[in-house]
Amino acid sequence: MRDQAFTDDFRAQFDLLLRLRRDVRRFRKDAIDEAVLTRCLDAFQLAPSVGLSEPWRVIRVESEVARDAALKNFQTANEQALQGYSGEKAHLYSQLKLSGMQDAPVQLAVFCDDATDKGQGLGAGTMPEMRRYSVVSAITLFWLTLRTEGLGLGWVSILDPEQMAHDLNVPENWRLIGYFCVGWPEVQSDTPELQQAGWEYREDKLPIEVR
Ligand SMILES: Cc1cc2nc3c(=O)[nH]c(=O)nc-3n(C[C@H](O)[C@H](O)[C@H](O)COP(=O)(O)O)c2cc1C
Repeated sequence: MRDQAFTDDFRAQFDLLLRLRRDVRRFRKDAIDEAVLTRCLDAFQLAPSVGLSEPWRVIRVESEVARDAALKNFQTANEQALQGYSGEKAHLYSQLKLSGMQDAPVQLAVFCDDATDKGQGLGAGTMPEMRRYSVVSAITLFWLTLRTEGLGLGWVSILDPEQMAHDLNVPENWRLIGYFCVGWPEVQSDTPELQQAGWEYREDKLPIEVR
């Protein structure tokens, strides 16, 4: 393939994409065209992975039974999480919207296959967690690709991973990386929702230390 030079215009657009990515919890209920979704899921096949192990396992959660179980899982974990805060912080936490599971038209549970033979262990000997990091890097590409289509993704991690693995009846060595809500965002913003809510703030400088 010829060397591809990216243009200034592309760089500006890419910068905008990074700035407008957002974690989305508020979705319109409109369906997503299957062809668009497939284009976005193709990003997984372009992702880096340790030893080229491609350990991501994606389950599309569609049935009412499976969605109800996932929602109950989140609600239980979220109630427990609230117990970990007190005073004003607890009040603020209770006001946060931390999943779009009741609205998102597409929902995915993404696992890492910790026992995959693919890649033959290369790069994961001393740090087997590299397989899970590979799944996270693939999700990031998927996230950005969705955004190019105007779609949003919301990452839900307030869950009992064992319960989710049980409810979806996945193989024993699959570890939950996250539950993902995908849909059309209600709003577009360049500011994280947690920042807008006064929970936490984005640093404006990268803390780099030199040794
Ligand atoms: C590993 C991971 C887990 C997350 N889990 C949740 C979650 O359970 N619920 C939620 O509302 N947001 C979750 N988020 C989204 C973060 O809150 C969000 O990325 C952060 O506040 C910055 O906002 P932004 O993504 O819009 O820039 C998660 C993000 C990551 C990367």
